[in-house]
Amino acid sequence: MSKATKKPLKITETVLRDAHQSLIATRMTTEQMLPIIDKMDQVGYHAVECWGGATFDASLRFLKEDPWERLRKLRAGFKKTKLQMLFRGQNILGYRPYADDVVEYFVQKSIANGIDIIRIFDCLNDLRNLQTAVTACNKEKGHAQVALSYTLGDAYTLEYWTNIAKKIEEMGANSICIKDMAGLLVPVEATKLMKALKSATSLPIELHTHYTSGVASMTCMKAIEAGCDIIDTAMSPLALGTSQPATEVMVEAFKGTEYDTGLDQNLLAEIADYFRPLREEALESGLMNPKVLGVNIKTLLYQVPGGMLSNMVSQLKEQNAEDKYEEVLKEIPRVRKDLGEPPLVTPSSQIVGTQAVFNVLMGERYKVATKETKDVLLGKYGQTVKPFNPEVVDKVLGADKKNAITCRYADLLEPELDKIEAEMRQWKQQDEDVLSYALFPQVATDFFKYREAQQKGVDAAVADTKNGAYPV
Ligand code: CO
Repeated sequence: MSKATKKPLKITETVLRDAHQSLIATRMTTEQMLPIIDKMDQVGYHAVECWGGATFDASLRFLKEDPWERLRKLRAGFKKTKLQMLFRGQNILGYRPYADDVVEYFVQKSIANGIDIIRIFDCLNDLRNLQTAVTACNKEKGHAQVALSYTLGDAYTLEYWTNIAKKIEEMGANSICIKDMAGLLVPVEATKLMKALKSATSLPIELHTHYTSGVASMTCMKAIEAGCDIIDTAMSPLALGTSQPATEVMVEAFKGTEYDTGLDQNLLAEIADYFRPLREEALESGLMNPKVLGVNIKTLLYQVPGGMLSNMVSQLKEQNAEDKYEEVLKEIPRVRKDLGEPPLVTPSSQIVGTQAVFNVLMGERYKVATKETKDVLLGKYGQTVKPFNPEVVDKVLGADKKNAITCRYADLLEPELDKIEAEMRQWKQQDEDVLSYALFPQVATDFFKYREAQQKGVDAAVADTKNGAYPV
């Protein structure tokens, strides 16, 4: 191709969010991030993904950090780079659907505290579960990116993906992401998918994939050659395995081509040098399990995310039923079909996996159904791409079948922000605390108590100093 067709590839860096979520259980602290962000700001990334997903929960629960404070510090450090977060549609960053007023307020506060791009997804790709967040993001002048959970199955044809892409454009999103959480997108399919998407919509397309099955960098290359605009990568010390392809490698792979990113390898090398000791420490302490660094080809064989397989193994171990592994593996796609063939991503992956384990261990399918399986069949999670198996609906729901809904579940929820604020008022030090509490009531309360004790400790120390003593 001639120089006139230059089309520099854009890079979203995930080292501050997905990479450490995937490899070291989301344990990177704000203190570990801050010293390097000035350098990262000079790189010229399209965006840095640094917030949302599990980082919010992990900050409060394990690191005893205020996630909002982290965001403000990152914003202050990244002067010219766009900051991106991951948002679970109507579930925000939590594990249940929220009323619209909470979703809107969360979007508003995320942007007010420094987020530029909100990547919004739903485990069923039910766009009704994304609309409130997209509209709120538009209203706050943020960039609303809709992420489609990528999966395989009869229903997921090129036509399915292009139809949904058109709808995403109509709903007011600014870009589309293909979110391949399990690493199921193989290179040849990436070519077909990207070509189809590019011809169906004029929105920029981003590819988010994981290295789990070993094909990610090849898939990225094929996707880019087929028109993909942006890819997600992670600095090499926290890349590969269950994380993303390495930033430096992808930059190098396209050097001198029409997709040349123009990013400076020397600068990237300095940033990698910063993160390398963190990797070494995590390997030594056991926080990073070498198992997640290899290639898990079973992901492709069974079309099941790697994390789901390890969950299943531990569930079977608990029941002393490890010999049922193969049987459960065969049961997973059957349960998935019964439940309308959803993508397998949090929370649908846990729902399908757990039900499959029950079906095998009880010796009779759906003799016991989990509450979550019932809720899926009641329509609470949204609309699936295929209908449910009617026999399973009858067996699991029985007379409860009449309570099934076809509307958006959040339409049945009353506004809840005022009630939540009333519940937690005694802890409130900033508006954002209401949202932390809304998402994780118990974890946030524990954090608020911890914060108060710290502050009292500091006050006591200050008073001691005034009295002539030194704080310890
Ligand atoms: Co991811």
